Amino acid sequence: MEGKRWLSLLLLVLVLVGISMDLPREAPAASSNILKSSSARIPVNPQGGEQRDGSKSKGIPLKANLSVCHASFSDADRPVYCCPAWKDADQTLLDFEFPDPSSPVRIRRPAHLVDEEFVAKYERAVAIMKQIPPDHPHNFWRQANMHCLYCTGAYDQMNSSALFKIHRSWLFFPWHRAFIYFHERILGKFMGDDTFALPYWSWDTPEGMWFPDIYRKGALNETERDAIHLREAAVDDFDYVDHDLASDVQIADNLAFMYHQMISGAKKTELFMGCKLRSGVEGWCDGPGTIEAAPHNTLHSWVGNRYNPERENMGAFYSAARDEVFFAHHSNIDRMWTVWKKLHGDKPEFVDQEWLESEFTFYDENVRLRRIKVRDVLNIDKLRYRYEDIDMPWLAARPKPSVHPKIARDILKKRNGEGVLRMPGETDRSQLSEYGSWTLDKTITVRVDRPRINRTGQEKEEEEEILLVYGIDTKRSRFVKFDVFINVVDETVLSPKSREFAGTFVNLHHVSRTKSHDDGGMDSKMKSHLKLGISELLEDLEADEDDSIWVTLVPRGGTGVNTTVDGVRIDYMK
Ligand SMILES: *[C@@H]1O[C@H](CO)[C@@H](O)[C@H](O)[C@H]1NC(C)=O
Ligand SMILES: *[C@@H]1O[C@H](CO)[C@@H](O)[C@H](O)[C@H]1NC(C)=O
Ligand SMILES: *[C@@H]1O[C@H](CO)[C@@H](O)[C@H](O)[C@H]1NC(C)=O
Ligand SMILES: *[C@@H]1O[C@H](CO)[C@@H](O)[C@H](O)[C@H]1NC(C)=O
Ligand SMILES: *[C@@H]1O[C@H](CO)[C@@H](O)[C@H](O)[C@H]1NC(C)=O
Repeated sequence: MEGKRWLSLLLLVLVLVGISMDLPREAPAASSNILKSSSARIPVNPQGGEQRDGSKSKGIPLKANLSVCHASFSDADRPVYCCPAWKDADQTLLDFEFPDPSSPVRIRRPAHLVDEEFVAKYERAVAIMKQIPPDHPHNFWRQANMHCLYCTGAYDQMNSSALFKIHRSWLFFPWHRAFIYFHERILGKFMGDDTFALPYWSWDTPEGMWFPDIYRKGALNETERDAIHLREAAVDDFDYVDHDLASDVQIADNLAFMYHQMISGAKKTELFMGCKLRSGVEGWCDGPGTIEAAPHNTLHSWVGNRYNPERENMGAFYSAARDEVFFAHHSNIDRMWTVWKKLHGDKPEFVDQEWLESEFTFYDENVRLRRIKVRDVLNIDKLRYRYEDIDMPWLAARPKPSVHPKIARDILKKRNGEGVLRMPGETDRSQLSEYGSWTLDKTITVRVDRPRINRTGQEKEEEEEILLVYGIDTKRSRFVKFDVFINVVDETVLSPKSREFAGTFVNLHHVSRTKSHDDGGMDSKMKSHLKLGISELLEDLEADEDDSIWVTLVPRGGTGVNTTVDGVRIDYMK
């Protein structure tokens, strides 16, 4: 019963969660089978856009072709229609203008710290948004549909039949920053208050790890939420699964997870912000950054009503912004971007014209359609808002190895010496599929060679060591989740709080559509890749001077039976 409940909860929670996928046009070399420990640089395209840089990519910034808005599909492949009554193509499109530098700075505060007067004002403004005519761009549900338009692919890209979508790539952070920027100013306009700032749901801090109470009030309340998760006592669970852990244990897990997603797993911009989506179908990539995969996706699902087909509202992209807590959630996502950027010395994220010149359109507070570019949203001082500082205990929540590294490596070396590359009771060579890939019906442990050891601090700074799990074929499974551990002696006792945890893979119901016309047959050809930054983790596991490591893939809840993996290897990312 308990197991069944766990599985069904898991099934429900997984609507949105992130993975990295690719069209396997470059088939991995046949020799890349994972049980052979191999350091060969296999010519597999690690992820969408990359290998196409400069070659197949048209090198033009991403833009939506606003002239035709069409029906699109939800995450679970159900048709949705979110096109506006006021056709964007019929509007005058104006360039974005920065707010007056002398206008007040809006200070976004933690949702659990705002006062009653603030909440009453906020609630009244949302009530007005819900009452204005449904075709008006400031109408609450029209605002929500802005998100629907760009998450389901209701517009094609310019000069292409590829869909314009803003999740699971480097467009994720900038698009959402622009979206909530305009939403905030529209709310302020209704209040007649040019200092109004959205609250942020500080789920990264212990005080903020409960559903923010203010969103239970009046127009901020919402019927389509998960009653079980929104109990007073429930601490946000970042790990997709309802563990029913005691609050203090869950909080410690969450803090360690935040450390992983913000620091050790996010040393490079691409790991944090997502893959480099290029224009056109051939530039497609599907690799969300650490924070987008979780807690962004997981908390969306966590809030949504489990009895709805896709955990609407928050649990499905097309309906997520129908719940005002969306904006508090995304304020915190946006805040994480500012924190990450500061930790990286305020350096530019990507110096890439295709990214910087990519553009989005939104209605401003004066109902004018604005064209805003990625380059316009990179400095929040110029956008005249900031985040009130709060303590961030996750900065110091660096996980510890569960077994002393020397002991663990001794045990693993002995196993290796005996020619046993796997743990007792686990998969063996006879399970290799006819295509030379491995089925994830059981835990798999492989030894993976490291092409470079003893790198200097500077070398590591320049190039992050990446664990690449490639050629993940989820077939037509409903969903798949597996965790990845390094140098683990007993994986049954591990969680994100253990330093051995390198990351997690979770897929969607269906493979997402990339083209607006006739993409039948395309999804069956797609394979996924998972990239995990591991330089710091290897230091903590004292494995930096080893010429190989043991990588363990642990399928969760029996979800891997239809999934195969072509291999695991080490790569480097600049
Ligand atoms: C925009 O879409 C319309 C309708 O599909 C098409 O005729 C037009 O060529 C497209 N424009 C661009 C610039 O892609
Ligand atoms: C895209 O289409 C527009 C309008 O048809 C054209 O002016 C532009 O040159 C095209 N851009 C590319 C890169 O093909
Ligand atoms: C908010 O909505 C829920 C679900 O409809 C309802 O049970 C609850 O009483 C509402 N809360 C308030 C304060 O109105
Ligand atoms: C695996 O595939 C079989 C046959 O298509 C299907 O019945 C089963 O539900 C799948 N299992 C999972 C966990 O996806
Ligand atoms: C790597 O560093 C260790 C410890 O400093 C040393 O014993 C080992 O010889 C080094 N290996 C290589 C190949 O430099």
